[in-house]
Parts: sequence; C-alpha cells; structure tokens
Amino acid sequence: MDREGFKSNFGSILALAGSAVGLGNIWRFPYMLSEYGGGAFLLVYVLCIIIVTFPIMLSEFIVGRRGNRGAFSAIYHIEPRGPWKFYGSLAVFIPFATLCYYCVIGGWTLYYLFQSCLFQFSSSSSPEAIDSMFEHFITQPVTPVVFHGLFLLATAIIIRWGVRNGIEKCSKVMMPLLFFIMLLIAARSMTLPGASEGVSYIFNPDFSKITPQVFLAAMGQAFYSLSVGMGIMITYASYLDQKSNLPRIASYTIFSDFLFAVIAGCAIIPVLFAFGMSTGQGTGLVFKTLPLIFSQLPFGSLIAAVFFFAVLLAAITSSMSLFEVPVSWLVEHKHMPRNKSCLYVFLAALVIGAVCSLSFGPLGQITISNKIIFEIFDYTIGNYLMPFAGFVVVLFVGWKMHASDICEEIFKTSIPALDHRCRFWFMVLVFAIKYISPAAVLAVFLSGIL
Ligand code: PHE
Repeated sequence: MDREGFKSNFGSILALAGSAVGLGNIWRFPYMLSEYGGGAFLLVYVLCIIIVTFPIMLSEFIVGRRGNRGAFSAIYHIEPRGPWKFYGSLAVFIPFATLCYYCVIGGWTLYYLFQSCLFQFSSSSSPEAIDSMFEHFITQPVTPVVFHGLFLLATAIIIRWGVRNGIEKCSKVMMPLLFFIMLLIAARSMTLPGASEGVSYIFNPDFSKITPQVFLAAMGQAFYSLSVGMGIMITYASYLDQKSNLPRIASYTIFSDFLFAVIAGCAIIPVLFAFGMSTGQGTGLVFKTLPLIFSQLPFGSLIAAVFFFAVLLAAITSSMSLFEVPVSWLVEHKHMPRNKSCLYVFLAALVIGAVCSLSFGPLGQITISNKIIFEIFDYTIGNYLMPFAGFVVVLFVGWKMHASDICEEIFKTSIPALDHRCRFWFMVLVFAIKYISPAAVLAVFLSGIL
C-alpha cells in the first residue's frame, strides 16, 4: 500500500520524541519525582524504561512497520485469524478518548501563557490571587472550553497538513526549541540560592525509599510518558522507512524522553527547594506553585511566559500524535479525505472535551465513585485501557508472531544469518518481550484494579 511516510530518519525520531515528550514529562514527572523520593524514583524509572518499556515500544514498532498500516489494522494485517482483530478498535478508541481530555490541559497551558503575557505573574500580583486563579479558571463555564477549542484547533490544522508537512516539519522546529528553552529554565533554576539541595534530591538516591509502590508508580509513569499501549507508536512506526533501524530509533526516542524528563525535573524541583516549598505539591505543581514562584523572581512574567510556551510546545507535539491515529483510521478505512477526517475528529473531540472541561465546573455533580468525568477518562485510560492494550501488543509479538519475522523486522536478515553478538541480543529481546514486559504490564494493570 502506498502511504505518505516520514521523509528522514531525523524527522521521524523528532516526531516520535515529540509524541513521547509532553505534559507527562513537564507536569507529571516532576511531581512523581518529588512524591516518590527523588533519586530513588529516578533510579527505578531508569530500570523500568530499559527493561520494560523498551521491549514494548519495539514490539509496537515491529507491528506498525510490518503491518504497514495504522493502529487499527496493523495487527489484523499480520494475523487475520484469531481474536486479535478487536485490538484495532481499542487502538483507535484510546488515543481518541485521550485526545479529548489531554487537550483540556493543553487549553489550560494556552490560558496560562496568555496570562503570563498579560503580566499576571509579576510581583505586583498578590500570592492569593495567583493561588486562586487556577480553581477560578477551571471552574468557569466558558473560558476553559474556549481555550480547549483553540488548542484542539491548532492540533487539527497541523494534522491536516499531513505526515511530512505537518507532523514531521512541526516536530523539527518545536522539539529543538523546546529543548533549548527547558535547558535555559533548568540553568536558571539550578543556580538560584538554595537550589543545590534540590539537585541532590534528584540525583542522590535514598535506597530506603525504594518500595513496590515506587516500582508501580515508575512503571505507570514510563508507560504514560513514552506513549506506549496506545497504538500511537504503531501508527507512527508505519510511517518509518523500511530500512530504518527499529532498536536504534526506539533507543533514541526513549533516551530523549528521559532527557526531557530529567531536565524538567531540574527546572522545577530545585526551585521548590530554593523557595522552601514542600516537594509533595501534587498535580497543582505546574499551574499553582510555579506561577507563585515565578511572581517572586525578577522578570517573573517573562520567565512564566517562556515556561508556559515550552509546556505548550510539549503538549501540542503529543496531541498531534493522538489526533493522527483516528485520522489515519478514517483515511485508511473509511476512505475519507484527510481534510474531512480532521474536521470530524476535531468536532467530536471538541464536544467530548468540552464535557470533560465542564466537569470541573457546571457538570461537577456528575460523578462515578466520586470521580468527575475528566477523572473518569484519565483513570480508566491510564489504569485499565493503556496497560491492557500494551499487554495485547507484547503478547501478540512475543507469542503469536514468528521469531523469524521479528528478526527480519529488527535486523533485516534471517536468524541463522545473525552473528553471535546479534543473536545474543535477539534472544535477550525476545525473552523480555515474551516474559518480562507482559509480567510488568500485568502488575501495573492489577495494581490499578486492586
Ligand atoms: N507521552 C505524552 C506525555 O508525556 C502523553 C501521551 C500519552 C501522549 C499517550 C500521547 C499518548 O505527555
């Protein structure tokens, strides 16, 4: 099948890294790091991404490129028999549902960027006003919905431009820019008086803090941050060149995601220490604590604007990947033109996202076991659907696909033709895909249920 794909290896790595690097790195990782013991969490996280997430990402790459189709039919194309077909619907549904609520937070970021440009986070604003701004904003009926719509619209426009001209070109501009900005902010933060304690909190592990909970939290974070278990990596891998080296691309993607997470940690945690704030700030870290701190720094509004611009870039490269999956499904399976597909996905996500956004305010009464609609999306997808979908993919690659096909995809040659070193790594990989990753995913899944 002739499909549009990424033009260069470099562009595809930036697009993959763009999907992975997002709010999960800048907003979620620092607060997980601070909640689960700093260095101890970092150490466990590194183990998880190497041992558990790398084989899963590689499995998704193998499925995507071998199937040469988006997430909906890649598995089915490789194995038309058996129960695997149901995975396709799941792999389109999950990114779409995530898109709806992810763009709500994207909208918040846009709003905060806007407020920074209006000098709302300067020394003249009272700390109480900054602190209450967040709750006041998200509970309103109109403004958050408008900003959600604007964020979603920006995503839709980029996706409408296509894989090369939209996703790849934007990632090539946005990712280096994001990297540069985050480095600058981290440098500023780490040189604040009193910040060194924060730096050592991140890099000096206290081994007594390593518990099974830390493992589960790190694994959940690795899943979320690397966008696996969603069908996204399958769809993006189907745009990769047939000759590209999958393990190398997976390593680069994972490494850049990790690098961004550490830089974000270095940008945020030392500031907390410098200002004597506690480390367990939870989800309010980026939208409440940081603006408060920015307002006390010289040129606070400027730093806040640059920071929220960076968060916006990170969020949009991730939402692009979420948006692309249902669009590729409509284009490939419903034979709809790309324009029209983008419009339909935009409208559907606008309506559902608006409901998620309103659940912080006017629709706050609608709850299921004490969770508002937004939380139900986040909870169900993060704890059940993503681990489950990830589980299905590793099961498929590890237990259903032929080892010779896997070898063909990874090394572009047959098993007997592998040299000693490659054969060793191949066996390690297959072992990880067959046993380690499914067991780990199952643990995350069960911990979410129990
Ligand atoms: N990986 C993204 C982040 O860290 C979130 C995401 C998850 C994006 C799943 C797409 C799919 O923010």
